[in-house]
Amino acid sequence: MQLGPKGNLEIYNHRRQKLLEKIKDGVAIFFAHPEQIRNNDAHHKYRQDSTFYYLTGFTEPESVIVLDGKTSKFSLFVREKDATRELWDGFRYGLDGAKKFFGPDQVFSIKDLASKLPELIKESQRVYYRYGDHREHDEVVLEAMQAARRAKGRSGLGFPDLIDGNSIVGEMRLIKSDDEADLLRKAGHITSMGHIAGMKATRPGMFEYELEAIIESEFRRLGSERLGYNSIVGTGANATVLHYVFNDDKLAENQLVLVDAGAEYGYYTGDITRTYPTNGKFTAAQKKLYEGVLKVQKECVSFVKPGIRLADIHNKSIHGLIDVMLDLGLLKGSAQEIFEKKTFTKYFPHGTSHWLGMDVHDSGIYQIDGQSRLLEKGMCFSVEPGLYVPQDDSSAPSEFRGIGIRIEDDILVTANGYENLTKDAPKEVNEIEDLVGSSV
Ligand code: GLY
Ligand code: MN
Ligand code: MN
Repeated sequence: MQLGPKGNLEIYNHRRQKLLEKIKDGVAIFFAHPEQIRNNDAHHKYRQDSTFYYLTGFTEPESVIVLDGKTSKFSLFVREKDATRELWDGFRYGLDGAKKFFGPDQVFSIKDLASKLPELIKESQRVYYRYGDHREHDEVVLEAMQAARRAKGRSGLGFPDLIDGNSIVGEMRLIKSDDEADLLRKAGHITSMGHIAGMKATRPGMFEYELEAIIESEFRRLGSERLGYNSIVGTGANATVLHYVFNDDKLAENQLVLVDAGAEYGYYTGDITRTYPTNGKFTAAQKKLYEGVLKVQKECVSFVKPGIRLADIHNKSIHGLIDVMLDLGLLKGSAQEIFEKKTFTKYFPHGTSHWLGMDVHDSGIYQIDGQSRLLEKGMCFSVEPGLYVPQDDSSAPSEFRGIGIRIEDDILVTANGYENLTKDAPKEVNEIEDLVGSSV
């Protein structure tokens, strides 16, 4: 096991320094993600909270960081070394290890959190903390704030202000540094390779979960630690369920299968959707719908540059898809009216983009003063238009019923335009037809 944070300690020092400048004379508290029971005494595999990791690189549960804007002190609470627990569960840094490898000014046992926290926050009238996510953490923080106020005696001062610290870090996380872009690039590449492995192995008669296993195994083989989110593998009409989770159906001839899967690498995730024929050959109807979505998706991607807004991309996607729906007889009437009355949502019910980074739906404010914010270099997001025609939709031409198509890439805003981080995953009709089933 390689000790210390991934990458350079300086990266994390720099992020904490930037945060300290933003909180001025306030104090910020961040908790590690709590461990979660899966069933009985078995746990879900642990993953650190993204914001906590962003600020420390520290991956152990039961840890807390306190940053003091007045003194610039970084305090870290961690689990103590414990020979018995380490025999069962493996290595822990303990206080000395955490101090040595993660650079806090002071380190404490997590057992002392309740007694030490009032002392650490007592000089500040502003506490930055994301309340409401975990009630057990809220209780510790509110109790410490109360204790700090009591300790001041009859000061006349009220309760310190409580401000959501995660949203401040969220804005920092929104703009990806070159190091973060590298990790996203790698996650995008591994995710692409997983999708290619899946396409090659696809054949009618296999089960959705077999395809899922092939894709996820390629992710792991290429060094991905875990998934960024649960994979969606939906064949036929299952593809019209946006967050389909069962993945237990059999792929039939002449169906399209929709795969939305993303590998996480170094705590950053890819998020790709590809849709392709189970037998490697689009039917005429599938091809018409697919090429419509593909054209819109490519137009939306190539439109990206600093200074435009996610709302502009979404509008482009809506207008493009309305034209496709009118062309193919899915909708009737005027494009303007369909846009204004939002009747397009019958077949395109979701947004086109979300921020992407450590979380698949990453942190960062979408609107400023009621308007979609301007894109800047370093922002990363998905572009994922889709059309979904329910099986039982008697108003749709019968050839399109039960088809769901989404095409999704991960786009990084550069100084003058964009970089498609998932360009290695094929999406052209001829590329897909060549690849699908080629290793069967
Ligand atoms: N994979 C989740 C999403 O595309 O938003
Ligand atoms: Mn996705
Ligand atoms: Mn997405």
